Formats: sequence, structure tokens, C-alpha cells
Amino acid sequence: MSDRNKIPVLAAPLQGVTDNVWRMAQHEVFGGVDAYYSPFMRVERGEVRRKDLRDVEPDRNAGITLIPQILACQPDHALMMVDALQQKGYRRIDINLGCPFPPIALHRKGSGMLAYPELVDQLFKALSKAEGVDYSVKMRIGWDHNDQWRDILPLMEIIRPVNIAVHPRTGKQQYKGELDIEQFEALLAASPWPVIYNGSLRTVEDIETITNRYPALAAVMVGSGLAANPGMLAPDVTPEDYRRFHDLLVEGYTEQLNGGKAQLVRHLQDIWQNFLPGTSHKLFKAIRKSHTLDQYQTAAAAALAAVETALNPQEEGEDQ
Ligand SMILES: Cc1cc2nc3c(=O)[nH]c(=O)nc-3n(C[C@H](O)[C@H](O)[C@H](O)COP(=O)(O)O)c2cc1C
Repeated sequence: MSDRNKIPVLAAPLQGVTDNVWRMAQHEVFGGVDAYYSPFMRVERGEVRRKDLRDVEPDRNAGITLIPQILACQPDHALMMVDALQQKGYRRIDINLGCPFPPIALHRKGSGMLAYPELVDQLFKALSKAEGVDYSVKMRIGWDHNDQWRDILPLMEIIRPVNIAVHPRTGKQQYKGELDIEQFEALLAASPWPVIYNGSLRTVEDIETITNRYPALAAVMVGSGLAANPGMLAPDVTPEDYRRFHDLLVEGYTEQLNGGKAQLVRHLQDIWQNFLPGTSHKLFKAIRKSHTLDQYQTAAAAALAAVETALNPQEEGEDQ
């Protein structure tokens, strides 16, 4: 993509993946991301989750642009998070109206709120009272109908968002089923606010295709594509880059997770649910089955040695 046509690329938040350790490693080794969204922050038992606050600490996110995201239905919870983030120096906060996870959405949070414009209205009115903060919104096209965004869009006037990132599925669809491009186009045409496209962008060519198709887009947002291949935006990558990225993850999680080596191994194993999806079944199984950090490191080293195949699964070997 020539620089002249370069559209901002945002790293989507993925709870359990794109935390500060992942963000800093991706930035240091590969880059290409203009801003990172934090996985959503929430209030639990009357206070902002400490783990979420630690993740957005400015010194854990030095040198990157981080847009912290909040998830709440209750206005007082939302304002509690805005206040905590403002105290950390954030002036730009993203509002999650997209999470489809049933325990959240069925409590009328995330994408579940899209079926209740009156709750969104209440939330936005409360948020608009906080001074010195700009909002953006990350949303789906609806909760259980693909045009519920039509009742939500006019409410945006209350917060006048910097932009709206749209994943063109309903919450009920979770991450499956067709992307509803027709509704996305209708929303893009109707929105007075800059719109960001988010959904199934896995290569630079995918980004080019979508930006050529919709020149009005303010930016694109990439989630699982970057989790699978954190080097997807970098012009030249080598297997050594993936090893270094992985080393930084091991180093960062060793420092930040305090549940001992067992927790560390579990977390690293979870990373491979998304990372390098072309990894052969045999290598992936060795990672899943490792019990100790040494076993894990041996299995991960073998998988990383096969990174070229993992990035190009069509060239898979016989054991795939
Ligand atoms: C494991 C996982 C965790 C996610 N966590 C969040 C989150 O914390 N906040 C959010 O707005 N979206 C979250 N999402 C949705 C993604 O940000 C993104 O909208 C979605 O994956 C579609 O984009 P993609 O096709 O590029 O992955 C999550 C998705 C997955 C798969």
C-alpha cells in the first residue's frame, strides 16, 4: 500500500490477547498499528477492576497510542471508569456496544444494549456530563436484528463521537455467519460521524480492498488477523521476528502474571488459540500438552521454527 493511500489501521481489542504485553511486543517487533484499543474495562463489586486499570497504566503502554475501552450499562459504573481513566491522563475513551458474550450481552451490556435504545440514551447522557473527554464507540449493527443501529445512530449526537467502529454482525451471531455488508453500507451512508470498518481483515490486501471499496472510511480495525499474525502489517518479516515477539510475551507475562509457572504456561497456551493458526496439528498438540515451562518452551520453539509454513497454511506439510 503506498503511503499516500494509507488509511489508519487500529488494533481491535481482544480480551485475553491484546493486553499491554501483547501490544508492546507487537509494536516493538512488527508495528504498523496507528492506535491500539484496550480490551474492555469493567466495574466489579463496586470498583473498577484493578487488573483492567493496571493494563492501561501509561508506563505499561509507553510509546504507543492507546485508546482505553469501557463496558457498562449503568451510568454510575461508566462514570467511575471515565474518572479513573482521566486520572491516568486519558482524554479519549471508547465505549463498548459490541461485546456479544452472552453473560454480558444478556445483562444488556455490550451488543445487548443495542436492543435497548433507552439504556443507550441514559448512558450517553451521563457520559456527556464528564468534561474534557472525547468518546468513540465500537459497535455491532444490532443485538438480535440487523438494523437496530438505526435507533442507536441518532443517539450519538449526545456524545458526538470522534468515530464509530462497526463490526457488521449482530451480537446474536457472535463471531459466526456472514458479515452483513448491506447494513454496513447503509450505516456508513447514514452516519454523520466518521466510520471505521472492522471485520475479517487478515492481510494488507484485504485492507486495500475494503478501503478501495469504501473511500469514506476513517480507518480500519483489525482483530483476529493481527492476533493470528502480529506481523501482518509489516512489509518484511522473518522467522526471527516471530521468535523475538514470542520471547517478549514470555518475558512480559513472567513479570506480570503472579500465579506461578502453571498460570504462565496456561496463558501462553491460550495465546496459541489465535496465534499462527497454520501451525501443524502435531506442533500445536505438543504446545497444548506441555505441563512445565520447559516443555512449553521446547514445543513453542519447534512451532516457531515452522513459522513460514504456519503463515502460509496452503503450503502445509503432511502432518497438518
Ligand atoms: C477473544 C475475543 C475477545 C474480544 N474482546 C473484545 C473486547 O474486549 N472489546 C471489544 O470491543 N471487542 C472485543 N472483541 C471483538 C473484536 O475486537 C473484533 O470486533 C472482532 O473480533 C471482529 O474483528 P476481526 O474479524 O478483525 O477479528 C473480541 C473478540 C474476540 C474473538
